[in-house]
Amino acid sequence: MALHTRLCELLGIDHPILLAGMGRASTPELAAAVSNAGGLGVIGAASCGPHQLRAWIRRVRALTDRPFGVDTLLPASVRRGTGNAGGPSAETLLPQHRDFARAFMAREGLELLDQAGLDRVLDRDPADRDGPAPLSRAFFEAQMEVVIEERVPVYAAGLGNPSPWLERLHANGTKVMAVVGTTRHARQVVESGVDIIVAQGHDGGGHNSPIGTMALIPQVVDAVSGRVPVVGAGGIGDGRGIAAALMLGAEGAWIGTAFLATEEAGISAAQKQALVEGNDEGTTVSRSVTGKPARMVRNRWAAAYAEAGIEPLPMPWQGTVSTPVTAAALAAGRADVWGGFAGQGLGMVRAVRPAAAVMQDLVAGAERVLGRAAGFLEG
Ligand SMILES: Cc1cc2nc3c(=O)[nH]c(=O)nc-3n(C[C@H](O)[C@H](O)[C@H](O)COP(=O)(O)O)c2cc1C
Repeated sequence: MALHTRLCELLGIDHPILLAGMGRASTPELAAAVSNAGGLGVIGAASCGPHQLRAWIRRVRALTDRPFGVDTLLPASVRRGTGNAGGPSAETLLPQHRDFARAFMAREGLELLDQAGLDRVLDRDPADRDGPAPLSRAFFEAQMEVVIEERVPVYAAGLGNPSPWLERLHANGTKVMAVVGTTRHARQVVESGVDIIVAQGHDGGGHNSPIGTMALIPQVVDAVSGRVPVVGAGGIGDGRGIAAALMLGAEGAWIGTAFLATEEAGISAAQKQALVEGNDEGTTVSRSVTGKPARMVRNRWAAAYAEAGIEPLPMPWQGTVSTPVTAAALAAGRADVWGGFAGQGLGMVRAVRPAAAVMQDLVAGAERVLGRAAGFLEG
């Protein structure tokens, strides 16, 4: 008996396992490996400028002829140009946070990188330097133009509501997904006409819901009452987690952390090693990196903010404060200062392996436990 759901028909894939779009980490190579293994590979393009995004899409197409997806962020606060309700504006507070970052770097012995160094460490295309500033409204809009021009099979909005682009995406035959963390947001995006919902709970890596995965999935399933398939996410680290998500009413799993310690993932060797050594207590939730609550490997930058008792700035300003710090930490191989985003399933990551091997284990593991499920019933 093979692992297969309605989602497989909708997306044209063999198994209902989706590589989560993880900014930079979900490379074209990783996405293609997951698609070639029968799942849906989704590139993590959140911080790709338009030139790089087009190149990444073309690279996936060169590596697989199977369906794939593109994930970017569409935060409503940035698109509206708001984000700091009440109190002093983020622009006013920016110099104070930049001073805090400079003092932190000096204490940690980290060197500020120049533009070329930043492009190299963050794997950014210099052709995008003259384009819109990362994480600005113009940046998100430029990315969406590329997604539409390239007619990608699947688009996933990691934050926000893709409604302004839905008509054009659908006209191209693109299936549109939205990642949500509450039933309220799920209802909004379904009302807008998205095709698939990803319900990502508090356990997951990256931007993060206050609601745990186990409680979130069935409530989102009920909230959308069968109108669109729901995919479960957050802390799903092996076949048992996939089976559990299906039992909660999901029709697939969107998996990040379990694919991070793979040969194809776009994170450093030091970060992969930190993941392998991490355990269930190895993550924390902090606004210190992007300005929104995100789950990450415990690190000295988030700890410094927590100890100082300073509220990070909202997105996108906090990113301009943290990027020089996280980039310098990456360049110096200091995973203790910045180890990257990761979910609570960290302790299930035990080795750096090819993505195809991870996929094989996920599928076989889910099939094994689902096959045993009927054994819980008697008579
Ligand atoms: C390293 C990393 C980077 C992430 N970056 C993004 C991103 O750019 N866009 C997005 O929609 N979600 C991002 N996420 C969240 C994932 O898409 C996904 O929801 C999450 O990884 C699922 O939880 P899990 O890590 O426990 O499997 C990121 C997660 C991780 C671990």
